[in-house]
This record gives sequence, structure tokens and C-alpha cells, in this order.
Amino acid sequence: MSRLTIYPDDAPHAPLVSATDPREISAELAAVGVGFERWQAGAALAADASQNDILVAYAHDIDRLRQQGGYVTADVVSLKPDHPDRATLRLKFLDEHTHSEDEVRFFVEGSGAFYLHLQQRVYQITCERGDLLRVPANTCHWFDMGPAPHFTAIRLFIDPAGWVGHFTGDKIANEFPRHGE
Ligand SMILES: [Fe+2]
Repeated sequence: MSRLTIYPDDAPHAPLVSATDPREISAELAAVGVGFERWQAGAALAADASQNDILVAYAHDIDRLRQQGGYVTADVVSLKPDHPDRATLRLKFLDEHTHSEDEVRFFVEGSGAFYLHLQQRVYQITCERGDLLRVPANTCHWFDMGPAPHFTAIRLFIDPAGWVGHFTGDKIANEFPRHGE
């Protein structure tokens, strides 16, 4: 289930808000400039759908976001629990970092957790199938795919080359609950 948990950034055991209603999640995140939407496929998707099938099924929403955010490219990334490099891949964005462009992810299937460090709070968003999250450029955040990653996600970019992690050096991520553990 999609879930938003908001913590003081110095109290990872004392959540202030725990929400599962998509409208409530969307409202809480909109208040800090973060986009959250629920999408439905415009066409039925087979279990073995190709990258192109997925982009076509969600073309309407992708085009709308492209126009709103100036995103030029869209692709699909998929990870399964038996991926041989899953531990290394999980570590890649597990510490607090920023990007010089928005991080936009739509979950076609599976799940993953984003943690946004904003206004002395940490917003943990567990995204599931059907969730779109848009994290604005330069937002301090981290992402946990869990020890057995399972997700397929559409990514939107202004410039894929700009999607480089700038790590803050803050180890705050270690203090908060991990995804799937
Ligand atoms: Fe990131």
C-alpha cells in the first residue's frame, strides 16, 4: 500500500504523520512542492510488456507531465529480486544526495521508498504500482529499493546526463527505517 510517513529529522522513532489515502499523501507533499499522483494505464498491460508497450499505455500522463515539466526523454527501468548486482545497486542512492534536475518516477509495478529531507522533516514515501512521484531538483533525498528489489518504473528526464547524485555527506539515512527490512 502506498504510504507517507513524516518524521522530525531528529526523531526517526516519532512519526508526526502516517497517511495511506492518496489524496492526503498528495496534499501533504504538494505543501512542500513535491508532486504525487495516482495513474491508471490507458491500455491493458501484459505481464511481459515491453518498454515501448509500457510507454504507450501511459502515454497520456507522460505527455501531460512532459509539457508541465519540460521533460524530454522517458525510459523504463526494471529490477527483479534475483538481480546479481542488487546489493550494489541498492547502495548507489541509499545515502542523502541531490540532483540538478527533477527525479520523476512512475511505478508500473512493484515498490520502492523515497525519503525527502525538507524543512527539518523527513518524508518517507513508499511508492507502489500506480504511483507517480516528482521530486524537484536540488531536494535532499535518498532512495531504498530494499534487499530484494522488485519494481518497474518509468523515468522522465530533462537531460539524462544531469541525473548524477551529489552526495551531501550527511549519514541521516542510516537513522531511518529501511524499505523491505
Ligand atoms: Fe536521487
